[in-house]
Amino acid sequence: MLEVKGIEAGYGTAQVLFGVDLAIGAGEAVSLLGRNGMGKTTTVNTIFGLLRARAGSIVFDGADITGWPPHRRARAGLALAPEGRQVFATMTVRENLLAVARSGGWTIRRVHDLFPELAQRADVSAAVLSGGEQQMLAIARALMTNPRLLVLDEATEGLAPQVRRRIWRALRDVRAEGVAMLIIDKNIADLTRVCDRHYMLVKGHIVWAGTSAALTAAEDARRRHLGL
Ligand SMILES: Nc1ncnc2c1ncn2[C@@H]1O[C@H](COP(=O)(O)OP(=O)(O)O)[C@@H](O)[C@H]1O
Ligand SMILES: [Mg+2]
Repeated sequence: MLEVKGIEAGYGTAQVLFGVDLAIGAGEAVSLLGRNGMGKTTTVNTIFGLLRARAGSIVFDGADITGWPPHRRARAGLALAPEGRQVFATMTVRENLLAVARSGGWTIRRVHDLFPELAQRADVSAAVLSGGEQQMLAIARALMTNPRLLVLDEATEGLAPQVRRRIWRALRDVRAEGVAMLIIDKNIADLTRVCDRHYMLVKGHIVWAGTSAALTAAEDARRRHLGL
């Protein structure tokens, strides 16, 4: 469904991505692993058109979207729960969800079923939510666009263990609904439970790719490329 081929990207004269290849099938969940600063967010920003690909191509659902502006990619079915969450702080929780809603199976009711916490906080300003609630809102807001592919950049970063478990449970539920996912996170154990396949990124190069079983077995690659 998504095929990223040989993308190169960077900031000014600093090149960050040196030919990144990755693919995600319909309904598949895939992780992108790597230490800080290796280019994970840069890869995501390039997929969403927030950063220009200087080389390579991005094909989504058979369409070459490499040159498309971000809003057109969103309409085509790409949704992002961004690093740092970036909820709309001047809006209530409900307004955040309605601002991006598009017709489909994911409705306010369905995202409230997924995260009852958001139903309780519906009329509260998003600015006063806890970190965990903001992350739930970021995920719920992305789902309200009824995406074909949901991308989560640092899915549980900075959250307490109990809240992390809450998020992972929800992501398994989303996965079960057939939404394809690309997940960036540090927790390998949770990622292997939710994702089918994994990629490791080192200094803008994909250095390893494999299934959850292969990742569990790949002690050497985990140590060398992730420091784990
Ligand atoms: N807006 C930016 N301007 C300049 N350099 C950036 C910018 N964002 C990220 N970088 C640099 O690009 C590299 C990759 O960053 P990033 O993609 O955020 O890594 P990751 O998400 O894997 O932690 C890092 O060296 C980082 O300092
Ligand atoms: Mg990042």
